[in-house]
Amino acid sequence: MSLARIRTGVKGLDPIIGGGIPVGSMVLVSGPPGTGKTLLALQFVTAAVKAGHTAVYVCFEQGPQELKEQAEQFGWNAQKMERDGSLVFLHMWAHDFDEVTTKLVRLTKQTGKKPDIIVMDSITSVALNHTDTRELIHAAIKRLKEMGFTGIVTSELLEGQDGYSRDGVSEFVADGVIILQAKSLGRGTERTLTVKKLRRTQVDCDIHTLEIGKSGFSVL
Ligand SMILES: Nc1ncnc2c1ncn2[C@@H]1O[C@H](COP(=O)(O)OP(=O)(O)OP(=O)(O)O)[C@@H](O)[C@H]1O
Ligand SMILES: [Mg+2]
Repeated sequence: MSLARIRTGVKGLDPIIGGGIPVGSMVLVSGPPGTGKTLLALQFVTAAVKAGHTAVYVCFEQGPQELKEQAEQFGWNAQKMERDGSLVFLHMWAHDFDEVTTKLVRLTKQTGKKPDIIVMDSITSVALNHTDTRELIHAAIKRLKEMGFTGIVTSELLEGQDGYSRDGVSEFVADGVIILQAKSLGRGTERTLTVKKLRRTQVDCDIHTLEIGKSGFSVL
C-alpha cells in the first residue's frame, strides 16, 4: 500500500525521502543558527498551501511580518495565502505549549476548518524557561501528531553538540530528522542537508549540498 505524502516543495529533497513527508508525520529540522531552518519550513508550508492544504505556522522569535517578507524574497506569496485564510501565522509570546494547543483548537472552531499542516519554529522556544524540557518536548510533538498534523518542527543545534537537537529528545520523538549545516568558505557559504531518519521510508542518508537560488532551496 503506498503511503500518502506531502511534497516539501524543495527541489531534490522529495526524491531522497520517498516522495515527501508521510501524512501524519512530524519532521525535526535541526541546525545551528543561520543554516536555513526557517527558510526550509517556509518553503514547505507555502508549497503545501499551493498544493491545496491549509497550514498554520507557529512562530516565536521571528514575527509573521518578517516571515512574510522572507517568503516574498523567493516569490512565495505568503501574504496572499494569509489573506485567503489558507495560511495562518500564530505568533506566540508565552513559551507555553498549552497555549499553543488552545489557540490551535480555537482557530479550528473559528474557521470551521482544521489546518492539516503545521510548522513550529522553534521547538527550542517552547521549552525555554521550563525545567522539564525533555518531558515537555516529548509531550508537545506527540500532541501535534495526535491532533492529526503533518509538518515540521525546527530545533536549534549548538555547534559541535552531540545528538541532533539542543534538547536531546526531539530526534527520538519526531518521525523524521533533517540536519542542516553551513560552513563559511572564503567566497561564500557551503550548505549541506542530511536526512538522518524518516519512519516508514527508505531514505538516502548522504550529506547533500544545499543551494539557495531565486526560488529557494534545492538539494543537489
Ligand atoms: N534572499 C536571500 N538570498 C540568499 N540567501 C538568503 C536570502 N534570505 C535569507 N538568506 C540566507 O538564508 C539563510 C537561512 O536563514 P534562516 O533564517 O532560515 O536560518 P535559521 O536556521 O532559521 O536561523 P535561526 O537559528 O537564527 O533561526 C541565512 O544564512 C540567510 O543569509
Ligand atoms: Mg529560524
